[in-house]
Amino acid sequence: MKPKVYVTRHLPEAAWNELAPACDVTGWNEEYPPPYEVMVENMANKEGLICLLTDTIDADLMDAAPNLKVISQVAVGFDNIDIAAATERGIAVGNTPGVLTEATADFAFALLMAAARRVVEASDYVRAGQWRTWGLTLLLGQEVHGATLGIVGLGRIGEAMAKRARGFDMKVLYHNKGRRPEAETELGVEYRPFDDLLQESDYISLHVSLTPETRGLIDSRALSLMKPTAILVNTARGPVVDPEALYEALLSGRIAAAALDVTDPEPLPAGHRLLTQPNLIVAPHIASATVTSRTLMAQMAVRNCLAGLRGEPLPFPAY
Ligand code: DGY
Repeated sequence: MKPKVYVTRHLPEAAWNELAPACDVTGWNEEYPPPYEVMVENMANKEGLICLLTDTIDADLMDAAPNLKVISQVAVGFDNIDIAAATERGIAVGNTPGVLTEATADFAFALLMAAARRVVEASDYVRAGQWRTWGLTLLLGQEVHGATLGIVGLGRIGEAMAKRARGFDMKVLYHNKGRRPEAETELGVEYRPFDDLLQESDYISLHVSLTPETRGLIDSRALSLMKPTAILVNTARGPVVDPEALYEALLSGRIAAAALDVTDPEPLPAGHRLLTQPNLIVAPHIASATVTSRTLMAQMAVRNCLAGLRGEPLPFPAY
């Protein structure tokens, strides 16, 4: 008999084609995530689960699946999964690092550029019929070339961001849990204590995982240390930034602008007061959304799942 697997969303064809012949798959094929209760009902006889970052995978859900061997997340971040509960129950957890690094860094840099040069405002301006003439002071932005970028979290994506910044002759500072001397030599980046990085940077780009330590890391205190011309970019996780503090900082001109791919809450409701700020760009958590990255992520998740079902070590374990 084939092992039973629950998949919480439609998978790209290449991944589905690896999974379907090997397993008895039940899935949720809607655009929105399955309600928690639906997942619980479906887990009773499942040995494998392939899930997304929008699914809450907690101890109760695991207890509803006494045969569960593997939880395979189609994302690099896995803050939606109770890792301690999985470990206690002997359930393997996999994620998809690496294949989305470049796409995510590309997007983080695109957000940085868009905020610096007011690309979204400019496009809206033209579409609104406001373009009358060439103006010497029209929609002035900030230099990217030669500016200072502060990277918070020098993991894979933070490093990829540093490489892009060097192409723009930027000075790159970083703050990380542990100092990384080899990266300092290889990438030409300079370590700074957190507060110093905030004070010295023209652009601050967040690349940390969401943990109890990083939740609310960018609060009103952190924002108050930034330059009034600073631009904040977040492609990590929404709750790393306190949304109320950010709103106040944008409104008061405490910082110049922000560009977010991730928000708190997520999705950000259309009426959210952050969206009243013209100096804010928001994207719907799409930094890794290229055909190539998303396909490779789904394939890695399937391979993790198949290995877990066979009782083998996962090729891409989450921890
Ligand atoms: C991740 O993988 O954690 C991103 O947030 C989505 O690709």
